[in-house]
Amino acid sequence: MDLIIKHGTVVNALSRFKADIGVTDGRIVCIAESIEPCGGEQVVDAEGMLVLPGAIDAHTHLALPCGETSSADDYFAGTRAAACGGTTTVFDFAQQDPNEKMTDTVKRRDALCAPNAAVDYSFHVAVTDVSKGLIDGIGECVEIGIPSFKVYMVYDFGVSDGVFFRVLEKAKEVGALIAVHAENSELVNMLTRKYLSEGKTGPWYHYLSRPEFVEGEADFRAIQWAKATGVPLYIVHLANRQGVEAVTAAKDEGYEIYAETCPQYLEFTCDVYKREDGRNFVCSPPIKGAESREALWEAIRRGDIDTVATDHCPFQSYEKDWGRDDFSRIPNGCAGIENMYPYMLSAANEGRITFEKAVALCSANPAKIFGCRSKGEIAVGRDADIVIYDPAKDFTVTNDKMHSNCDHTIWEGLKLHGYPVQTYSRGRLVYDNGSFVGERGWGRLVRCRLH
Ligand code: URP
Ligand code: ZN
Ligand code: ZN
Repeated sequence: MDLIIKHGTVVNALSRFKADIGVTDGRIVCIAESIEPCGGEQVVDAEGMLVLPGAIDAHTHLALPCGETSSADDYFAGTRAAACGGTTTVFDFAQQDPNEKMTDTVKRRDALCAPNAAVDYSFHVAVTDVSKGLIDGIGECVEIGIPSFKVYMVYDFGVSDGVFFRVLEKAKEVGALIAVHAENSELVNMLTRKYLSEGKTGPWYHYLSRPEFVEGEADFRAIQWAKATGVPLYIVHLANRQGVEAVTAAKDEGYEIYAETCPQYLEFTCDVYKREDGRNFVCSPPIKGAESREALWEAIRRGDIDTVATDHCPFQSYEKDWGRDDFSRIPNGCAGIENMYPYMLSAANEGRITFEKAVALCSANPAKIFGCRSKGEIAVGRDADIVIYDPAKDFTVTNDKMHSNCDHTIWEGLKLHGYPVQTYSRGRLVYDNGSFVGERGWGRLVRCRLH
């Protein structure tokens, strides 16, 4: 064996037990009450520690082109930060260019990612163009191990209702999973114009131009179409109470509807948009009111929210400042890739949820939903993507301790109870007590299979 982790308490989504773990060639090969070293192995004493599967962040935007700039973290910085927060796999969005074959979209983004990724990665294809036979790309991507896709109901690259419906029909034919960014585009555009014309330009009006019902209505509509076509649907970054109710109702009726939320929607409320630095919290959908936040936590506890992911998409302060006098010019997105697992595990440590639930939301469920079969559990045969977590270590988030390229974080000052001390990616140590010790290009493309 190459690595033995001794005396730790393993926590999976459905189990918790004391065991030693043996790793050979990047895979877990043995889990036993006691594994004795034969010599030559690296031995780690995890007494008093939790030993967890690495998190899977199913929603990131690394090196995302955005007008005249791009998101602050490229594939190296983003995956470096991921490793330092216990995340060992990231799913990034590969956005299709007009007229581009979707398999070419994947190749284009993989060419950027492969030489730089510090942890394993995969892609969802963001579909923008299904004309002239391009819709067949959905089946072609499923064949090459990229079976999940996203449509945006908003933004200038979003799709029409008709295209969204066609994508759902194609997904049924080829066994793909469709994810949706659900907001009502017409209402957002109309309310944005209205507030700006009235001279209401601050970040609070970002929230008011995309209030609860703008998201809830779109969630409801997207779910109706998934039900009508009989395909599973994954709602990304769910942030509002009405949407939670629509998801719960659809699940209760037996439909395969999955919901993801993000730590920023669980921690903050729309009051952040009244702060002096409110523009730093501008993301879409915006952070909602306290009622929505509570509804999200309740849905987590009930099991109606399946995953937590970050929507990591930070921009530098000077870029956020472009929208000082016009909220519609603030680049959308916030940091989170290094904070998600510590945040959810700290919630577990404080008794808001169980550790098993935190592991389910951040690792086991995304692995299962997206068909990432070698990840998501500490089990023999799985990749040795392992986090050693010290439940007694207190940690306060400050940007200088983060490993992103961004010059600020919305998580500044957050106090966490418990923190990861080591992260292993396929058996290789990539994070050690505050320091990144991995390497650029170590990460591999994970090919997924849903069925
Ligand atoms: O504000 C956000 N979420 N930016 C990233 C793009 C998206 O909508 O997911
Ligand atoms: Zn989105
Ligand atoms: Zn996103």
